[in-house]
Amino acid sequence: MTTRWGIAGTGGIAARFVQALRQTPDAELVAVGSRTDRRADAFADEWDIPHRHGDYDDLARDDDVDVVYVATPQSRHADDACRYLDAGKHVLCEKPMAMTEAEVLRMTASAHLAERFLMEAIWSRFLPAYVRLWELLLHGRIGEPLFVEADFGFAMPVDPAHRLFDPARGGGALLDLGVYPLQLASLVLGPPDRVVASGHMGETDVDETVVAALHHPGGKLAVVKASIRLNLACTARIVGTEGSIELPAFMHCPESLTVRDAFGQAEVIEAPIEGEGLRYQVDEVHRCLAEGVGESRVMTLHESAQIAATMDTIRDQIDH
Ligand SMILES: NC(=O)c1ccc[n+]([C@@H]2O[C@H](COP(=O)([O-])OP(=O)(O)OC[C@H]3O[C@@H](n4cnc5c(N)ncnc54)[C@H](OP(=O)(O)O)[C@@H]3O)[C@@H](O)[C@H]2O)c1
Repeated sequence: MTTRWGIAGTGGIAARFVQALRQTPDAELVAVGSRTDRRADAFADEWDIPHRHGDYDDLARDDDVDVVYVATPQSRHADDACRYLDAGKHVLCEKPMAMTEAEVLRMTASAHLAERFLMEAIWSRFLPAYVRLWELLLHGRIGEPLFVEADFGFAMPVDPAHRLFDPARGGGALLDLGVYPLQLASLVLGPPDRVVASGHMGETDVDETVVAALHHPGGKLAVVKASIRLNLACTARIVGTEGSIELPAFMHCPESLTVRDAFGQAEVIEAPIEGEGLRYQVDEVHRCLAEGVGESRVMTLHESAQIAATMDTIRDQIDH
C-alpha cells in the first residue's frame, strides 16, 4: 500500500526528507506546504512535487495527503502538528517535538482525539547502530547500564538571523541539539528523578552551551552536554556493570559501536547507514500505519513528553 506524504516547511531538513521519501518504495510525496506561494512553488518545482500550497492550512485540506512531516521551526511544532492531526492527517514531527512538555501533551491529546498517528522524528532510534545498541542492552552485553555520557555541539558564529540563535524560533543548544544526548539517556536509563543543570546564555538570549547531570532511580546517572558555539566530541558512552558501549561521532547517527568487556577488550560492530538516514523512521511510520497503531513502540509519545519535561527543568535552571 502506498502512503501519501505532505511536507510542511521548505527548509534544510525538508529537502533531506525528500530524499528519504524517494528512497522508500511505498512512499509517495504528494504535497508541500509553505507560508508563501513563491517558496511552495520553488520547492515543488525543485523536487517535482505535484501539489504545492502557499498556506499551511491548505496543506491540511489536501485530501490526497495521508501523513504530514512537520519540518518547521520548533516554536510552531505544536500548532502545526495539531493543525494536521485535527484535519485527520497522521503526523511525523521534527525534533524537538515541541517547546515544552505542556505542548507535547496537547499534541498527544489531539492525536488521541483524532485517532491519528503521531511521532517525534528522533531518526536516531531507527538507525542500524541504535537498533544494534538496543539489542546489546537487552541481551545484557554490558550487564546493567549505570551511566551515560553524551554530547553534541558544533562551533557556529553568532548569527541572530539563524534559527539556532533566534529565541522566537526555539533556538538554543538544548532544544535543537541537547535533545539527542537526552534521548539516548532516556533510552538507556528512562526518565530522571533529579536534574542539575547549568548553561551559558548568549547575546541573542538563547542557551549557547548547556550541561546537565541527570540522576535516575537506583543511583544511575547521565551527563549530557550541548553547544551551538563549541565543537564538542559529539560522542557517547554507556557504562554498565560488565562493560561499556561507545558511540562514535556523530552520536545521533553513528555507523558503528565499540563494545568493551569488563577487561577493556574491544569489539567494533559496524552498522552502516544505507542511503539517507532519515528514511529509517519513514519505515517505522509505515509499519505503524499498516498495523493501525497510534504511536511507535520505539519512540512513544509518553517518552517524548518525558524528554520535554527534562528540558523544561534544565531550561528553568539555566534561563537566569
Ligand atoms: N533530524 C535532523 O537531523 C534535523 C536537522 C535539522 C533540523 N531539524 C529540525 O527540523 C526543523 C526545521 O529545521 P531546518 O533546519 O529545516 O530549518 P530552516 O532551514 O530554517 O527551515 C524551516 C522552514 O520552516 C518554515 N517556517 C515556518 N514558519 C517559519 C518562521 N516563523 N520562521 C522561519 N521559517 C518558518 C520555512 O518554510 P516556508 O518559508 O516555506 O514557510 C522554513 O523553510 C527544526 O525543528 C529542527 O530542529 C532536524
